[in-house]
Amino acid sequence: MQKLIAGNWKMNGRLGDLDAVAAIAGAASAYPSVDTALCLPATLIAPAAARVPGYAIGAQDCHMAVSGAHTGCLSGAMLKEAGASLTIVGHSERRAAQGESDADVRAKALAARAEDLSVIVCVGETEAERDAGEAEMVVLAQLAASLPDEAASDWLSVAYEPVWAIGTGRIPSTEDVAAMHGAIRAALQARFGDDGAAMRILYGGSMNGDNAASLLAVPNVDGGLIGGASLSAEKFLPIVAAAAAAN
Ligand code: PGA
Repeated sequence: MQKLIAGNWKMNGRLGDLDAVAAIAGAASAYPSVDTALCLPATLIAPAAARVPGYAIGAQDCHMAVSGAHTGCLSGAMLKEAGASLTIVGHSERRAAQGESDADVRAKALAARAEDLSVIVCVGETEAERDAGEAEMVVLAQLAASLPDEAASDWLSVAYEPVWAIGTGRIPSTEDVAAMHGAIRAALQARFGDDGAAMRILYGGSMNGDNAASLLAVPNVDGGLIGGASLSAEKFLPIVAAAAAAN
């Protein structure tokens, strides 16, 4: 399966950083065997889409409603019109800081899909949950409740992101990654049949040019969701290169 390396710029990036977007899009084109995308702050979606036409620019969230009294939120149609072709939903930072539930995440995924956006649904355990031996149970419960029945491999990817690995420089052992991705794969196949075998499962959390090759070699790791190391071509491209080598 073709790997997907998606950047998540979080609340970073202003107009001056469009040069970095262009540098990443240009350099990524040298790796046609890897899908890449950049999920940008909403304010950069339209100017980035204009700067790198044809490159996959994404959002970091999508409201579940089509329109209405939702101050500060953006609908799938708005994101699409701005030039997004995909969106993240259910990132742990939003689950924690905005109180998003699994049901919210599921509704957001469907709302994005209704506008033909591809979707990356994030799941992941906290450090306390891992220490308590509950990581797999927590992640599989999130997965079950966050994915809509309509999920299909041609528009939806899962990102497994241990909360304690995000932005910390710490990553799980490859054995732990293999175990979790294997459990997610089994759950996807049990629910979606053959198409569950084709859904991409990304790893996220402190992935960088130094650890990407070993993470991307783990069975059922079909790409990465990259935060800090997606902010420049110098940091992002080695991950894309590692994905190309792992194909
Ligand atoms: P990180 O973030 O790569 O900076 O750890 C990943 C994410 O939050 O998606």
